[in-house]
Amino acid sequence: MASIIPGITAVGGYVPDYVLTNHELEQLVDTNDEWITTRTGIKERRILKGENQGTSVMAVKALKQLLEKSNTDPKELDAVIVATVTPDYFFPTTANLIATEVGAVNAFGFDMMAACSGFIYALETGANYIRSGNYKKVAVIGADKMSSITNYKDRNSCILFGDGAAGVMLEPNEEGLGIYDTILKSDTVGKELIYLKGGGSVNPSTHESIDAGLHNFYQDGKSVFKYAVTYMADVAAEIMERNNLTGDDIAYLVPHQANKRIIDATANRMGVGPEKVMMNIQRYGNTTGATIPLCLFDFEKNLKKGDNLVLAAFGGGFTWGSMYLKWAY
Ligand code: UT7
Repeated sequence: MASIIPGITAVGGYVPDYVLTNHELEQLVDTNDEWITTRTGIKERRILKGENQGTSVMAVKALKQLLEKSNTDPKELDAVIVATVTPDYFFPTTANLIATEVGAVNAFGFDMMAACSGFIYALETGANYIRSGNYKKVAVIGADKMSSITNYKDRNSCILFGDGAAGVMLEPNEEGLGIYDTILKSDTVGKELIYLKGGGSVNPSTHESIDAGLHNFYQDGKSVFKYAVTYMADVAAEIMERNNLTGDDIAYLVPHQANKRIIDATANRMGVGPEKVMMNIQRYGNTTGATIPLCLFDFEKNLKKGDNLVLAAFGGGFTWGSMYLKWAY
C-alpha cells in the first residue's frame, strides 16, 4: 500500500486585541525599548485581558477558521490536538473544550505539552493519525496564554512573552504534498534552567509555593540561549542533510519565535537569507505553542503550492525538533 502523505489544507490564527508595547513595560520594570529590541527583536506582544478568559478563548477562534477555510462540517472532524503549556485547566483538556464549543461531536481530543516545541510534536502526532489511514481530518493547534504564568516584576522574562493561538488542518494529500520528515528530540538538561516549578505533583499549590513564585515562568536566559542557538540550528541542518536539501531548495524557514538572534543563527546555518525566514516576533513576542502556526497564518498569502518549508523549534525540557514539508495549496 502506498504511504499516505498528510497535507496542510488550512491555517487559522488569532491574537487578542490588547497590545503590550516595550514602552508600557518600561513603566513596569527597569527596562527600555532599545535593550529589548536589540537583545530579542520584540517590539510588542498581544495580551488576553478580562475575567475567566483562558487559552481556549483564543484556540476556539483558530479552530473555527480551520473548519471554515477547509470546508469542514464540525461533525466530520476526527481529532483535535492542542499544544499548550497554559491549558485552561489540567483537565478537562483544552482540546475537549474547543471541540465541544465548535460542535465537533465526533472528534476526540487531547492536549500535548512539549513547551516551545509543542507545535512540532503535536503536528507530527496529528500527521501519524492521518498516515494510519484511520483518520481523515485532524486539527492541530498551538495556543498559549503566557501572560497567565508571566511574572511582570521580573525584567528577565516578562519582556519575552505574549498570548496567541493558531493551527492547521491536516488531511491525506493525493498529490504527495505534505509532511515528509520530522526529527524530535528531548532531554532534561534544561530541568533547572527553564521551568515552571509549581502546581504539579511535586509542588502542589500552597500559600508558600505562591509566595516563592513557583507558579511563574523562570529561565536562566543566558544558559538557555547557548543551547537554543546550537540545538535549533543543528536540528534544522540535520533535516536538510538527510533530505538532500540546500538553502536554495527552501522557500521558507518557519522558526519558533523566542529570540531574533536564535532565528538568525538558524537561518545562517541553513544557508537561507532573511527574505526566506518567517518572522513576526516583533509583533507577538514568544507565544510558545502558537509561534510556528502564527507564522504560517501571517505568511499564508506568500506561500505557493509545492513550496519546501523547514520548521524548527527549541524549548523547555529541553525539547527541540524540525520538520520538512511541502506546502499543499
Ligand atoms: O522559548 C524557549 C526557550 N527560550 C529561549 O530560547 C530564550 C533564550 N534566551 C534569550 O533569548 C536571552 O538570553 C534573553 C533575551 C532572555 C536575555 O538576553 P541576554 O543577551 O542573554 O541577556 P542577559 O540575560 O545575559 O543579560 C545581560 C544584561 C544583564 O545585566 P548585567 O548583569 O550585564 O549588568 C541583565 O541584568 O542585561 C540585563 N537585563 C536587562 N536589561 C534591561 C536583563 N533583562 C533586561 C531587561 N532590560 N529586560
